[in-house]
Amino acid sequence: MNFETLCVQGAKDKSNTTGAIAVPIYQSATFSHPGVNQSTGYDYSRLQNPTREALENVVAKLEGGVDAMAFSSGMAAISVLMELFSAGDHIIASSDLYGGSIRFFNNISRKSGIEIEYVDTSDLKAVGQAIKPATKAIFIETPTNPMMDVTDIAAIKRLTAQRDILIIVDNTFLTPYYQQPLSQGADIAVHSGTKYLAGHNDTLAGFLVVSNKELSERLRFIYKTIGSCLSPFDSFLVIRGIKTLAIRMDRAQENAKKVANWLLGQPMVKAVHYIGLDTHPDIEITKRQSKGFGSMVSFEVESKELACHILENVKMIMFAESLGGVETLITYPHLQTHADVPKHERDARGITDRLLRLSIGIENCDDIISDLKQAINSF
Ligand SMILES: Cc1ncc(COP(=O)(O)O)c(C=O)c1O
Repeated sequence: MNFETLCVQGAKDKSNTTGAIAVPIYQSATFSHPGVNQSTGYDYSRLQNPTREALENVVAKLEGGVDAMAFSSGMAAISVLMELFSAGDHIIASSDLYGGSIRFFNNISRKSGIEIEYVDTSDLKAVGQAIKPATKAIFIETPTNPMMDVTDIAAIKRLTAQRDILIIVDNTFLTPYYQQPLSQGADIAVHSGTKYLAGHNDTLAGFLVVSNKELSERLRFIYKTIGSCLSPFDSFLVIRGIKTLAIRMDRAQENAKKVANWLLGQPMVKAVHYIGLDTHPDIEITKRQSKGFGSMVSFEVESKELACHILENVKMIMFAESLGGVETLITYPHLQTHADVPKHERDARGITDRLLRLSIGIENCDDIISDLKQAINSF
């Protein structure tokens, strides 16, 4: 099946006897046993639930993995992932990451004795130099949030070829529609399913997708033990969202290209970060590694006052955290997604009080641009 077809047709209820088109919400915490030592395949919903299983199966197929686990949020997925590691392990992480991941690594993982080292993973030499005997994983976000740096996943794989180092890629921004990290050599793909996969700003979700059975078994054990699984109702919502993933992403990307180019022509805009621009330093890697550029656009304006004015004067675009939904949202990373990152680190990465981030939705693009225009020009 082609990707678009899989999105629409991939989630199936294994025990469908009614002909229902939609996978039902199996709102049951537990399942009865036909006899002693017998199971229907479902025992307790923390371990497995038919609605969640249908979702997990389709996400595993979309990412080209052997298994996918669905979590109550992206951070829940990351917290289970990090249980693979122990005190003394060294993990290299992209220096420009979603702020919540940085908060988790700095406050939870480090407390457990895991050493986290932030490295610009788009700089292969720097990654090579950071690898040491205790290195157990490289956690990559590509493109990064919010500066849109790109890491060459296959090149990182080549760097670690002779070593037992897991390559983990947060694929939230591009989704498997545009980028499939496992096919580039990654071992685990991470998702905030809250974003493009669910796609409607109406539920939280997270995923871990793995490339082999051994990782699946290790993570499934932690998964059932910790219990941060996705509910049947939220699984249903994400299944529904995924049906339109491909067309939503194409439309949002088309809009994002136009918005990025329009922003480039605005005198009060000092920089535009969009991985689809020919001027993006990593455009060649993106073209090789990804099928598309997505719809996340960050831009820097000339002053903090203008940034705040835009946030307070957009009319249709909503000033809200999150991304990947059908609605266009604007975010102020230094006060929202990255508020917990120390100021000197934010400044070093360019996450200043002049930087705004847009998650472009699927509205008519003229409405998005005219809203931004009136917000900027009324300053
Ligand atoms: C790239 C990325 N990864 C992970 C997360 C965490 O996901 P969630 O908010 O679903 O917990 C986010 C949230 O914004 C994100 O942007």
